[in-house]
Amino acid sequence: MTSSIRLLTASDAEAYFEHLSRHMGESGRDGDFIFTPSDGYDRLNKPKELERFREKWELSLDEPGWTRTWGVFVNGDIRGHIDLRGGYLKTSLHRASLAMGLERPLRKQGLGAKLIELALQWLRETPSLEWVDLYVFANNHPAQRLYSRFGFRETGRVADLFRIHGEPITDIHMVLKLENGAT
Ligand SMILES: CC(C)(COP(=O)(O)OP(=O)(O)OC[C@H]1O[C@@H](n2cnc3c(N)ncnc32)[C@H](O)[C@@H]1OP(=O)(O)O)[C@@H](O)C(=O)NCCC(=O)NCCS
Repeated sequence: MTSSIRLLTASDAEAYFEHLSRHMGESGRDGDFIFTPSDGYDRLNKPKELERFREKWELSLDEPGWTRTWGVFVNGDIRGHIDLRGGYLKTSLHRASLAMGLERPLRKQGLGAKLIELALQWLRETPSLEWVDLYVFANNHPAQRLYSRFGFRETGRVADLFRIHGEPITDIHMVLKLENGAT
């Protein structure tokens, strides 16, 4: 499958929404892990969501809530993504949160690793950012293996943080320290 990866801009918002709707719908279904706390993504108010993506993509890195998203394109559709988000308070703008996902047919081809490499390269060229946080469910071992390979380390876990389809979910916090700053 031929794919390409690039940073998303305002005109990609609709394709990104369609990807997230398909991808979130995979969680906990047809043998897949439960990997997201989102419930009923496809029932969200689409115009409002598109507006929200566009606003956050346009924020500069010194504005709380900034977001940068890279999409994996296959035949013009977005089939995977990696997302970096800044803190929601000025006092946490030295940190970014990472989230990612690939639709099922694109997994286990090295694309997850490629997306993380790209995001880490961008982070290393962005001196204002010193830490990367992510959250992953305890049952999601493939994702944890991928994050560990790139140096993310577990700092703690919260049992029963979510209940999804009646199942209690333990959430793990993983962190990577970038070598960008002095601390
Ligand atoms: C987590 C996720 C992003 C990983 O993406 P990926 O592309 O499958 O990740 P990798 O590049 O590391 O490949 C995963 C596995 O396939 C193997 N692999 C990579 N390229 C391969 C290839 N060409 N052929 C066969 N296997 C391959 C890797 O060695 C790795 O094996 P491991 O799990 O035993 O370590 C993806 O599984 C996914 O989207 N899952 C659902 C959503 C999700 O969990 N998101 C994260 C929430 S925190």
